[in-house]
Amino acid sequence: MKPFYVTTPIYFLNGEPHIGHTYTTVAADSLARYKKARGYDVKFLTGADEHGQKVERAAAAAGVTPQRFCDDLVAKYKEIWELMNIDYDYFQRTTNPDHMDRVKGIFKKLYDQGDIYKGSYEGLYCTPCETFFTEHQAKDGVCTDCGRPVERISEECYFFKMGKYQKTLEAHIAANPEFIMPASRRNEMVNNFLKPGLSDLCVSRTTFTWGVPVDFDPGHIMYVWVDALPNYVTALGFLSDDDSDYKRYWPADVHLMAKEITRFHTIIWPCILLALGEPLPKQVFAHGWLQIEGQKLGKSLGNAIDPRPLSAEFGVDALRYFLLREFSFGPDGNFTRANFIGRYNADLANDLGNLLSRTVGMVDKYFGGVLPVCEPAPSPYDIDLAALATAMVTKVEDHMDNLRFSDALAETWQVVRRANKYIDENAPWVLAKDETKRAELANVLYCLAETLRIVAVAIAPVMPSTPGIIRAQLNIVDSAFAAWESAKHFGLLPREVRVEKGAAAFPRMEKE
Ligand code: MSP
Repeated sequence: MKPFYVTTPIYFLNGEPHIGHTYTTVAADSLARYKKARGYDVKFLTGADEHGQKVERAAAAAGVTPQRFCDDLVAKYKEIWELMNIDYDYFQRTTNPDHMDRVKGIFKKLYDQGDIYKGSYEGLYCTPCETFFTEHQAKDGVCTDCGRPVERISEECYFFKMGKYQKTLEAHIAANPEFIMPASRRNEMVNNFLKPGLSDLCVSRTTFTWGVPVDFDPGHIMYVWVDALPNYVTALGFLSDDDSDYKRYWPADVHLMAKEITRFHTIIWPCILLALGEPLPKQVFAHGWLQIEGQKLGKSLGNAIDPRPLSAEFGVDALRYFLLREFSFGPDGNFTRANFIGRYNADLANDLGNLLSRTVGMVDKYFGGVLPVCEPAPSPYDIDLAALATAMVTKVEDHMDNLRFSDALAETWQVVRRANKYIDENAPWVLAKDETKRAELANVLYCLAETLRIVAVAIAPVMPSTPGIIRAQLNIVDSAFAAWESAKHFGLLPREVRVEKGAAAFPRMEKE
């Protein structure tokens, strides 16, 4: 099996996960599930970024030790990811002693080879974003990412000779257009950061203690990003006695994140890897921000949306569907409750939910719950529906392989809508009145069941629970009919479909 390694950022512990963190994590989980369904040997990493002054200050404000503060938040993260059906393989914590040892090893190696040297830093720093700025970059005294005031710092520190790797990185970016995606981000990185030239990066701090110590120089704590970025390889056992996962899964196939941290992942991280002589990730994909009234979400901005009440109200699969269908993966998107209700009612309650309940209801009503075996010659409508459903699967593959989640779902819903139209074209309620049309009626209902089976396969990566509901109502127990490849063939399901009426999969939401 071919390996596939996908990561989310490890999230800063400055609050509980909100819908923005959920967005990236659901995308990564859906991609991981999709690749597994296609037969890849997948590893999926998420985690927590626990060090730095921000966490130290927050823990002090809460009156607990930083470790306790982090443990409590990590428990919250894990609880929410479980609720959201996030099936990760590694949850890396930067306070994990193995991680800390390996990061020390990386720092020491770079120091020993002369890529890290001691100097002093004068400049500006945004503590909430843990980012250094020059006077020129933060001209108005505010962070270019979050808009909050930057602090002036003047400290003795270690520097990483990032500039030394500029040419190699530029050549890599030019030769591998898929390395930074979407292309707009690549241009931004090249024009705004690489063209002006990379200066050496300050990689240690001395004014707080909550971090990975530079063990050959007490008092120095590693810059939080230099501690955090290597989590992607420390989780795989890099520099440990057992680095078999590292050998198998690195380089990562894709690092997923939102746009504000592209620079760390496409400049600092690659330069560290180049200095270590290790391969670069195959792709860094930066999506846009979910916004509320044009403002980025965040606990510190006071507009964070908690995924728990939303999933309690709409269902976890509905929330996952909405996130990946509503916002195309790349640009910013505006999250509103009205849009969620609108899309839920249109796509889930009306289109998919109705297709299932109508199909099951009619098998129940017209055939007492069991379709008779019959093989009438397919009608033009049957042929059209079957062709659309099976062609959809290869189109979904192309979209999912290129992280176009919304297009993949839109493609699937064309089939759902086509199936609803097929009901109207065939008017089963008219066929049911004619005893000579029993086989024709059974065939119409069979084609609907078979379409639902195929749709269940295609939506499974994004909506992991719904396929089970569909299959339970259609009594599909053989896992062969849930396999990805099986969705490329129409007519696999045995003709004698037995249904089990169930509750509505997506009850309508009343608009507020
Ligand atoms: N700890 C760093 C990442 C280190 S990775 C080696 C960090 N953490 S963070 O908690 O601030 O999370 C940032 C990430 O959370 C974004 O890149 C994105 O994946 C997700 N999101 C946070 N807010 C978001 C939105 N409003 N919209 C979309 N995604 C958002 O940066």
